[in-house]
Amino acid sequence: MGDAFDGPVREVLHAGCPVVCCETHEEARLVAAVAAIARELGVPVRTWSLLDAPGVPPAEAVAAELRALREATGPQVLLLADVHPFLDHPAVARAIRAFVAAAPPGRRLILVSPLFRVPPELEHDLVVLSLPLPDPAALAAVAAETLAALKLAPDPAALAAVGDALRGLTLAEARWVVRKAVRSAGGAVPGPAVVLREKGWRFGRAEGMEIVAEEVPLERVGGLDELKRWLDERRLAFSRGARDFGLPPPRGLLLMGVQGCGKSLAAKAIARFWSLPEVRLDLGLIVGHPYPEALLRQAIRIAEAMAPVVLWVDEIEKGFGTEAAGARRLLGGFVTWLQEKREPVFVVATANEVEALPPELPRKGRFDEIFFFDLPNVHERAEIARIHLAARGRDPAKFDLDALARRTDRFSGSELEQVVLSALYAAFSAGRDLQQADLLAAAAETVPLATTYEDRIQALREWARTRARPATLDRRKLDAFQPG
Ligand SMILES: Nc1ncnc2c1ncn2[C@@H]1O[C@H](COP(=O)(O)OP(=O)(O)OP(=O)(O)O)[C@@H](O)[C@H]1O
Ligand SMILES: [Mg+2]
Repeated sequence: MGDAFDGPVREVLHAGCPVVCCETHEEARLVAAVAAIARELGVPVRTWSLLDAPGVPPAEAVAAELRALREATGPQVLLLADVHPFLDHPAVARAIRAFVAAAPPGRRLILVSPLFRVPPELEHDLVVLSLPLPDPAALAAVAAETLAALKLAPDPAALAAVGDALRGLTLAEARWVVRKAVRSAGGAVPGPAVVLREKGWRFGRAEGMEIVAEEVPLERVGGLDELKRWLDERRLAFSRGARDFGLPPPRGLLLMGVQGCGKSLAAKAIARFWSLPEVRLDLGLIVGHPYPEALLRQAIRIAEAMAPVVLWVDEIEKGFGTEAAGARRLLGGFVTWLQEKREPVFVVATANEVEALPPELPRKGRFDEIFFFDLPNVHERAEIARIHLAARGRDPAKFDLDALARRTDRFSGSELEQVVLSALYAAFSAGRDLQQADLLAAAAETVPLATTYEDRIQALREWARTRARPATLDRRKLDAFQPG
């Protein structure tokens, strides 16, 4: 378990890097790892936190500690906690730079915090290591300990399932989630579903990330057969069989297209279709956070610990396309990760504005494919109406959906859903069940957004013509601006 966590720290310490920022929630684990590495190097370690300097203004206390390290004699590793809020304090920044410049032989400084924001003046002096979360085996070991303390002895298969379900948590969180899961399971060894539910609760607090609990079956997505074919072809892509066959896991999809045409819906359906968990990244929240880059690194750490997983980035252009300070740097970090990631984290990004989409995102090597979601064609409209009627307990066979589809030219999927809903309201208020006439009347009353946004839709299509693959192959009926 230690390698992925200890490895990078060992590497930089052996290489003689003077200052390293270790980004992790697991301070105790880092302290233990550093102690072990220092033993290998034959160097003493000292740990320090603000608790060691009561009554002194924090920035001054940190600066004094750094000065002492610079002026000390002999090799030493100093592990400092609680420094990150003071990195941009002039005295602290200066003390770090002075330490780096003096490069006293054998002396190393390690800063630890869950999140780091490195001020520009220190960018060339600090190395930030984003340390991985524990792997399933380590989590299973912690689960075993916690369960044993509760006098529960799971069989190995049950334990492995619990360890797997805990992925994305720290060891301390895992302990706590296991305890809660045991309680929910009425004092028994919890199954993975219970653990996942308890873990979801913890995720609600992980800034910028949430577990997508809603499971959308692919059958609830109407049309889009080309996308469905692509997904079906990769159904087993995350299996051991695929790996043994020599296939790399799929990297991700960019879903572009017209508003209300099922991009977010499809993003939810993919995870369930592939039997993977799904987490949603709230880029808006991350961009607006005081430590956006650290938060994005944290989100990536969690996603990688949960892999194989679907990471859904909804409205990606609204997060990265803003002028908010740091949005561009954040994008740079994200794109690099997209391109270089090794873990099977399947990224599904959705967007509906081409103007705001940063041009580096759709470039080759970032996503496996860019799918374009156009307005549904006449067949798809009938299918979408069928789905929404069935979802509301009506028998679609009782309605002439082809006629409805012909009368709903340029309607989006979401507008078709609204037609079904308005028709149901009309029928309900008339005190009878739904009739074909209600559907047709609701359709006649709706002015589809596409009529108002014709220019934007044309611009989207123009963009997609050379860059994207249609999510629906039926091109004959694709152009909704022809009577269809
Ligand atoms: N192809 C479809 N099949 C079934 N329902 C659909 C389809 N497209 C849209 N809908 C309905 O419309 C709702 C809104 O669609 P969705 O949020 O997926 O659109 P979107 O493409 O993400 O739009 P936006 O660009 O505005 O985010 C869905 O929850 C679903 O109920
Ligand atoms: Mg959407």
